[in-house]
Amino acid sequence: MTPAGTAASAVADAADLFRTLTGSEPDGVWSAPGRANLIGEHTDYNDGFVLPFAIQQRTAAAARLRTDGRIRVASTFAAEPVEVALSDLEALFPSDGVPALAEWAAYPLGVAWALRAVVPAWASATLPGVDIAIASEVPVGAGLSSSAAIEGATGSALNALWTLGLDPVTLAQAGRRAENEAVGAPTGIMDQMASMLGVADAAVFLDCRTLATRSVPLGFAEAGLEVLVIDTRVTHAHSTGGYRERRASCERGAAALGVVALRDVTPADLPRAAEVLDDVDFRRVRHVVTEDQRVLDAVAVLDGSAVLDGSAGGLRDRAQALGALLVASHASMRDDFEISIPELDTAVDVALAHGAIGARMTGGGFGGAAIALVDSELVTPVSDAVRAAFAACGFADPHLFTVAPSDGPRRDV
Ligand code: GLA
Repeated sequence: MTPAGTAASAVADAADLFRTLTGSEPDGVWSAPGRANLIGEHTDYNDGFVLPFAIQQRTAAAARLRTDGRIRVASTFAAEPVEVALSDLEALFPSDGVPALAEWAAYPLGVAWALRAVVPAWASATLPGVDIAIASEVPVGAGLSSSAAIEGATGSALNALWTLGLDPVTLAQAGRRAENEAVGAPTGIMDQMASMLGVADAAVFLDCRTLATRSVPLGFAEAGLEVLVIDTRVTHAHSTGGYRERRASCERGAAALGVVALRDVTPADLPRAAEVLDDVDFRRVRHVVTEDQRVLDAVAVLDGSAVLDGSAGGLRDRAQALGALLVASHASMRDDFEISIPELDTAVDVALAHGAIGARMTGGGFGGAAIALVDSELVTPVSDAVRAAFAACGFADPHLFTVAPSDGPRRDV
């Protein structure tokens, strides 16, 4: 990880690994970013709204075509490369069964497999093989979508080398398919869309039902604000446990309320939801419904269309209003969705107590990172206070670094 973050080290590391692996130069190096979610958590698989942004930490894939119809993937975070014939991917990831490959290689190989559905040449087996070497600066398990960054870098490399001409949304869908079916994590599409559609200084406002997106300028730098990431270093895996259970609660809630997805439930429907659902499912539903509304409110604040004390407000007023939404989002995840952990609550509470304008856990929960919106001059004191509080609580030393809203995938070399 490069806390200050440019893509240079991941690109150089991927190219170096490629040379070690193959003894030759890659045809090119492509990279894609991780993401932080500003607001809108566990709304994506409920057809709802999210407002993430791509971050400057990236994952790079150095790649080169080969002539034998085989795909080989290597990465700096695994000792051994994995190699398979393209024609055998179908058997590796049966669409109706448990994936045979339960390791990091399922991400890049899963993308290659998912692309088969949108690549006519696949059927006639005319696609050439490829060697891919992957290196990443996105911390793994920190809730910053290291997996979407692998998928985005791999998808971008394959799209170019196989001259597929696919658009970013189609590549995001292939990444999600890899995650859901090759890796077996029942996630939504927020992370892949944020990585593929990131724009510098802006967030990606995404309607997860229609996949319509709009860039929402954030203006944080202009307002003298930073987004501080507090990575608790408590790792999580969304292919197991709590994430799946939360998703099941949401599906039960939607079914009981007679809607396709919780996106179709409004805050005004909540009293009825309280009558038909048990307490736990009701609180899960309430989180999703109120969180969707908070995303819409956040976009209105950032657009300047929200009325703040009779006016659209200046940058500072908007930041304060956004901060209040972040705090409410965290409380909802802590109390209703119950996906926070003591480390994340401490990070949020201490950041707020030391002057953060807003703070919340980001990502799927059960570990990972919190984000805090802070004045530039408060980054150091807030970081020091969080470190001290973690030490006092006996928690692991957190990783603290700032992230800047950044552009999506690109070819680096
Ligand atoms: C993980 C998943 C996303 C989303 C978030 C929660 O990051 O990959 O699809 O569901 O959790 O908002």
